[in-house]
This record gives sequence, structure tokens and C-alpha cells, in this order.
Amino acid sequence: MDPPEEVRARLERCGQGHLLRFWAELGPEQRRALLAALPPGLGEHCRLAAAARARQRGPPERLDGRMEPLPAELLGSARRSGPAALQRWEAEGLYQISQNKVAVLLLAGGQGTRLGVSYPKGMYNVGLPSGKNLYQIQAERIRKVEQLAGQRHRCKCAIPWYIMTSEFTLGPTEEFFVQHNYFNLDRSNVIMFEQRMLPAVTFDGKAILEEKGKIAMAPDGNGGLYRALVDNKILDDMKQRGIQYVHVYCVDNILVKMADPVFIGFCVSKGADCGAKVVEKAYPTEPVGVVCCVDGVYQVVEYSEISPETAQQQRPEGGLMFSAGNICNHFFTVDFLEIVAQKCEPQLKHHVAIKKVPYIDKEGNLVKPLKPNGIKLEKFVFDVFQFSKNFVAFEVLREEEFSPLKNADTADKDTPTTARQALLAQHYRWALKAGARFVDENGCRIPEKLSLSGTEDPPAVCEISPLVSYFGEGLEVYMKNKDFPSPFVLDETKVEMLENS
Ligand code: UD1
Repeated sequence: MDPPEEVRARLERCGQGHLLRFWAELGPEQRRALLAALPPGLGEHCRLAAAARARQRGPPERLDGRMEPLPAELLGSARRSGPAALQRWEAEGLYQISQNKVAVLLLAGGQGTRLGVSYPKGMYNVGLPSGKNLYQIQAERIRKVEQLAGQRHRCKCAIPWYIMTSEFTLGPTEEFFVQHNYFNLDRSNVIMFEQRMLPAVTFDGKAILEEKGKIAMAPDGNGGLYRALVDNKILDDMKQRGIQYVHVYCVDNILVKMADPVFIGFCVSKGADCGAKVVEKAYPTEPVGVVCCVDGVYQVVEYSEISPETAQQQRPEGGLMFSAGNICNHFFTVDFLEIVAQKCEPQLKHHVAIKKVPYIDKEGNLVKPLKPNGIKLEKFVFDVFQFSKNFVAFEVLREEEFSPLKNADTADKDTPTTARQALLAQHYRWALKAGARFVDENGCRIPEKLSLSGTEDPPAVCEISPLVSYFGEGLEVYMKNKDFPSPFVLDETKVEMLENS
């Protein structure tokens, strides 16, 4: 059977006739699948990809002259604000949570290639004493902050957890949640949905076959969120539940504060429609994007888009001029998401990622290229800041809120080891603050060390379950003036024992 004449002609016309090269060798099922997988606008997509790559090969566009730091009045700070302000924002956030107006949304459609595991990153276990994986930690933080809001306002409330997956991550993520009984969350409050995929394209604009009857596809970037919200009617679901505020975050930050009441309270009290949590850049050339203003519009500027001189520029009062490092942790109102998804999404720019994409050569052999050969187009979640009518940013302390898991342990930063160290250092600080003492196997006191660098093991290992404490609160009652062995895991069972002792 020949492919429908119209399909062949259409593919030929847009320079993609090669996709049918192995048609004669395909079985009926493969043929059906190939035809079904031909995306509308394929030719246009391939042209766009090749043109974007050609543009990218030129010198990077420098934005230096057009950049300005965020105006001080838009930038809140956990470090510079007094306890009264922080408590006020936290109270506001907890109130909104208690009213069932807050949801969290996890971006989990990425392939996690740098970490080098074949399963979704959220399933990763960084080697904590409890053996918990990232998803379990996140689920338990949701349960705890629901409980804190409920206790404060004497009600029962829920924070729906929306999880954006892709063709690569949906199946295993669903299976993992079922296996773990949704980490004891109410199943109806965990909503998984899929983002779209786009064909990978050669440098001369041809869609790549990864099998004789299958086009190589990749997720359309974390900015694919906005189309996915519409495709999967997620905004309708949010509205039905009465959600007004959404805390969007990236899967790999082990310190992420789910539905952070302080951040949400800050954004809500400023009347913001869109907000970004940021950390101070560690050093001028750190490869993170900075949140700033370009031609009067808020955006994240990649480190490749500024010169080293601009990156090093200092503020008169000290500190880097462009220091607001993006950590992929955002606040949106549902109204803002709706405007973006319905109207502005087509204006989001495409970013080019150049990757090694295995392909079938003309002779029908599978080739695993040693050099990058393919273009993947992606949209970025933060590119919507430009549409905000009232944008804010909130700076938090890196050691308290940001330690991403990006690389395998062979790298020197953002690895399973650094993520584990960051979490254990934080819990150690919480325990000391609550008055705990640690003793070694001979019962001798382990000397305390209050200031730890990001890549240092604390003198004693103490892991605190998020079900016991969300952000260090409420620990005195179990820990004050008590001796604990190292390693020690303070979980619900231990809490019960301590309560009865
Ligand atoms: C991201 C930020 C970067 C920030 C860094 C901090 C973006 C575009 N970049 O970079 O500014 O400094 O985090 O850790 O946000 N994802 C999807 N679908 C996709 C691709 C990615 O859901 O198609 C998800 C990933 O699963 C992950 C998140 O988006 O949870 C961030 O993606 P990743 O590729 O890890 O971004 P980075 O390059 O690390």
C-alpha cells in the first residue's frame, strides 16, 4: 500500500519527503503510527528550527546596554526583611492556603539527561538516611503545609498538586505514584497532564527519523506549560476548584518549599500577577539566568547574553548589580495564566537546544552521533514575565531554599551529594536552633559547627521528616536539651516515642 497521495505530496512540498523513505518496509501498524505522528505544521516547524539555529551561530546577542536591575520596590527579600514582615506574609500565605485558593504545579517533563538516569528525576533518591526520593519529600511538604494552614484557621484544606509530564515521564511517574499510594495524598488532588512534543530537526531543516517509521520527538520546553494548560483543560480544573494562585517549580531542587506561604503571601500582598523567587548569584560568572528589566520589560537574561564586564558590575552600596539568579520557582495568578495561555503564548520565543539525536541513515542503519546533529526547539516558562502587569521578585537564601540536582556525582556541583549535604546541613541547623545536642557512639558530645559551606557534611547527621517540620518550626518540643545519636531521623514514629518518653 502506498501512503495516501496527498500525504506524500504534502511532505514533498515541505521538504520532508524522506520521512517516507522506508515506507515499503513498514508493517500496517507502523505505517498507521507514522501517519498519525506527522504533526500539523511540520514543514514550518523544520524551517523555523533551521533558521533559529542559523541565527544562533552568529555572535550571541548582547543585551548589556538595554538591561537594568529590578527596581528595589519590586524586590522583596527573606534576608533583608524583618521578622514582622516575614510573619505577615507567611500569615497571608497560610490564609490563602486555608481557603483552598493555592495550588502547586510541578514542571516534570524534562528528560534529565545530565543526571544520566533513565527514569524521571523526581524518583531519584539522593541517599538520605530515610531513603526518601524527591517526590516523597515534595508530597510530605504539601501535606505538612496543608496541616499548618488548617491548624491556624481551624479547617481542613487541600493544595492540589498539578504535575506536568511529557511522553517520556508520564507513564513511569504515574506508576511510581500508584506504587507509593500517592504518598498518602488524596489521589483526586494529584493531577498529572502531558505537555506536547516537537520533532527534532537536522541543521538543514529535516525532521529526524529515530526508527524507520518513527520521528524523533522531544518535549517542547518547560514553557510548553502554557499550551499544555489549555490542551488538558487544567485551567478549567483550577477554576472549578476555586484556585487563584499557582506556585510553579522545577523538580530537582531538594530544598523547594512547596506552596511557600511567605512567597505566596508576599506576592498576594503586593497584588502581583506574576512573581519569581530568586537567589543572590554566587559569583559574577555563575551560569544562571538573572531576573532583570530589558527595555522596561521583565525577563530572565541568560548568562551568555551579557558580557563579563556587565556580569561583574557592582551596586554603589556593594553586591552585584545583576544578582537576582533565577531558580525556576514562580508565582502566577490563575487569571494571568489564562491571559497568557489564551492570548500571549504564540508570542513566546523559541530557544534552540543543540543535541546528539540518534538517527536512521539513508541505508537504514541506526547511527548514534558523536557530535551534536539535531535541533530541538523549546519555550521557557519564564518568558511570560514580559506580559505581567504587576511583576515582583522575592530573594531567598540559597542555603535555605536552593540546591538543585542536575548532574551525576562525577560533576563537582549540583549533584546527589551536594543536594544531600544541603538538606542535611539545613536540618542540622534547625536541630541546633531547637536546642538539640548530638553525641557519638561513645556518648561524647559532638562539637557543634554553626556555619557550614554548601559542600560540607554537618558534624552530625540529622534528617527531619517534612511531616514533622515544614521549615524548622515546632522542633523545640521534641529536641530541646536532648541528646541524639548521629545519624538520627526525626520522623512521625520517633515523634510519638519522644512524646511518650
Ligand atoms: C532552569 C531554569 C534556569 C534556572 C535553573 C535553576 C528554565 C528554562 N531554566 O534551568 O533559568 O537557573 O532551572 O535550577 O526554566 N522541564 C519540563 N519540560 C521540558 C523541559 C524541562 O517540564 O520540556 C522541566 C524539568 O523537568 C525541570 C524544569 O523544567 O523540572 C527545569 O528544566 P531544566 O532543563 O532542568 O532547566 P535548567 O537548564 O536546569
